Amino acid sequence: MILGVPKEIKNNENRVAMTPAGVMELVKFGHTVYIQKDAGFNSGFADAEFIAAGATILETIEEVYNKAEMIVKVKEPIASEYSLIKKDQLVFTYFHFASSEPLTHAMIKSGAVCLAYETVEKVDRSLPLLIPMSEVAGRMAIQEGAKYLEKPQKGKGVLLGGVPGVPSGKVLILGGGIVGTQAAKMAAGLGARVVIMDISLNRLRQLSDIMPANVTTILSNEYNIKEAIKEADLVVGAVLIPGAKAPHLITKDMLKLMKPGTVVVDVAVDQGGCIETCKPTTHEDPVFVIDEVVHYCVANMPGAVPYTSTLALTNATLPYVLQLANKGWQKACIENEELKKGLNVVQGAVVYKGVADAWNLTLSELEDQFN
Ligand SMILES: NC(=O)c1ccc[n+]([C@@H]2O[C@H](COP(=O)([O-])OP(=O)(O)OC[C@H]3O[C@@H](n4cnc5c(N)ncnc54)[C@H](O)[C@@H]3O)[C@@H](O)[C@H]2O)c1
Repeated sequence: MILGVPKEIKNNENRVAMTPAGVMELVKFGHTVYIQKDAGFNSGFADAEFIAAGATILETIEEVYNKAEMIVKVKEPIASEYSLIKKDQLVFTYFHFASSEPLTHAMIKSGAVCLAYETVEKVDRSLPLLIPMSEVAGRMAIQEGAKYLEKPQKGKGVLLGGVPGVPSGKVLILGGGIVGTQAAKMAAGLGARVVIMDISLNRLRQLSDIMPANVTTILSNEYNIKEAIKEADLVVGAVLIPGAKAPHLITKDMLKLMKPGTVVVDVAVDQGGCIETCKPTTHEDPVFVIDEVVHYCVANMPGAVPYTSTLALTNATLPYVLQLANKGWQKACIENEELKKGLNVVQGAVVYKGVADAWNLTLSELEDQFN
């Protein structure tokens, strides 16, 4: 198959959808890989490394879309890319169709096969192409939180690890899923006193078994949250209710219970945030202060560490890319239910319920798309 990897052009997107290691695997199977010039530059991969792995570099994005049977990307196509996508072309990327009506209509019109990273799903209902980014964001939450706790950054002036003779900082993590677990590991590693809260007792049992002694698990409810925020130096919001907005576990009134200079990192900001006063920020201007509480609410945290994020993402996507390239999308999806769940729009037909519901479109029978 002929694969094309364009340079990401969405504002501030520095990741690339394939590494030289991925190119080498695909070329081994006899596939042709076109990479747009400088596509990997911001992630730390030079064109020469892609060439050495067997790829061909193309100057322009138009050439990449023109030549490729399958496009592998990171972010959803932006308006200037809509017209480049061809009928029957397979596009494998994050789409998040439910948050963009114009994108949905453009992809229906294109006649392309749109396989969305975010809906590829395993039998245990986990989302293998979202997990790596949650892992990155969870670990970053502590790194960023520690930075903004510094006095020049408007924080309390607390060193999370403390020093001999001085107690370490207190970290409260709301939600003990992927983000929360990775945040807890990082905070515990720094020597902080960590509390994880979740509504699932089973999850708390698992965490209690695997976490070090400086991590305590507490059931998430309003009373316990109110008590914990009085003492916390850093609060991480890591709650997710699938398919719904995040609940506001810390309301504006509750900020008054927190000490001046406390930092909140609301990782769940992309789902509305679990701290009422959070609103999305960017890497250029990541924080704001309300009631003397420093809010960090960057909606695409992995974007700040493109080298790590690219490797984490491509480690997870490459096995699927190989299946699609080796078998073609139809056979690959028939033989792998995980991939089949990723099909959102197929040659003009909406086949994913969430997308049809979001924009009041007719849902076509997925099975009818296989001929
Ligand atoms: N900002 C970013 O750059 C970024 C990056 C990756 C993920 N995220 C977001 O981070 C959030 C968490 O993702 P995840 O992968 O860890 O999800 P997850 O499903 O693995 O974990 C969510 C956890 O929240 C718990 N929960 C639900 N209601 C709760 C409540 N009232 N109190 C406490 N816990 C509660 C669940 O039981 C679950 O354990 C999501 O909104 C995700 O979109 C943001």
